Amino acid sequence: MKNKVKVSAPGKLMLFGEHSVVYGRPCIVTAVNQRMRVTVEVTKGDGIELVAPNVGIKNFKASISTPLDKLPKGARFVFAAVKNFNKKYKVVSGLCIKTQSGFSSEFGFGSSSSVTVCVVKALSQIFDIDICSNILFDICYRSVLDVQGVGSGFDIAAAIWGGTLYFVGGGKTINCITKKKMPLVVGYTGIKADTTTLVKRVSELRKSNLKLVDSIFDIIDSIVNMVHKLIVNNDFDNFGQLANLNQGLLDSLGVSTPKLSDLIFAARSAGAYGAKLSGAGGGDCMIAFVSNKKRIFVEKAIEKAGGKVISIKTGAKGVKIEK
Ligand code: PMV
Repeated sequence: MKNKVKVSAPGKLMLFGEHSVVYGRPCIVTAVNQRMRVTVEVTKGDGIELVAPNVGIKNFKASISTPLDKLPKGARFVFAAVKNFNKKYKVVSGLCIKTQSGFSSEFGFGSSSSVTVCVVKALSQIFDIDICSNILFDICYRSVLDVQGVGSGFDIAAAIWGGTLYFVGGGKTINCITKKKMPLVVGYTGIKADTTTLVKRVSELRKSNLKLVDSIFDIIDSIVNMVHKLIVNNDFDNFGQLANLNQGLLDSLGVSTPKLSDLIFAARSAGAYGAKLSGAGGGDCMIAFVSNKKRIFVEKAIEKAGGKVISIKTGAKGVKIEK
């Protein structure tokens, strides 16, 4: 047993296939070079002490048996991760957990999933338990579902495996397609999206228009599979049209917003190959695929339209133990 372990995991950026992935379809997600860092230390007492300044938790202590909905929001993923780890491996100890995010939780880069992955990975190191990536995924995915009830698990996969992944909802397929950098620009709307509400909204729409919505998902499915082939062939220039098509379909599902549209149209007008929202919609970020020549013009156009350009690199390394 070790006393103290430090772990980091990357944030993620959804490229293609959001929402349809919730219904067991594929998506393409990339890990970004902005990381969550977590230190887990064994303590003498019982219960869990949590220090998570990025989500406003200065020093919180509670018993592991506290129901998740009685905990502050920023503590739920950490506690769910410890609970599910304990349940599987029957190991319990007092713990002090400190989290430090390299990115704002407002961007939608998946801070909750990265923190969940870091905590479970760190616990496996503390208790000398050898867990493979698939088991790590199962424990973390269970934890995310315990907290938010919905989700495909794509963000957990990005935090574990890193790179750019072809991911099928629930983790039925997880393939790393490339570790290369994608030629893209990210624009933040300044508005925090509520993923759970948007997923529920799409689910309501699907309930009342099952055939139509499933046909939209069928087309998104085809787009994702075309993008997959393009990435395998290193053919990034043709991403643009597919991004625009995916955006039109997301708009038809009602998850885009005027602000997202403004940034997307600004990027396209400035010469991006194509642009779309990234993630649940409702706010957070948009992405534009660009040539090197046009990058600066696209970035300026996004800023002029009221967005904030966030500098990231795609295809980052998955979860790792830090010295
Ligand atoms: O809002 P984000 O960036 O966490 O993305 C959500 C993506 C969805 O497909 C809408 C939900 C999911 O869990 O796949």
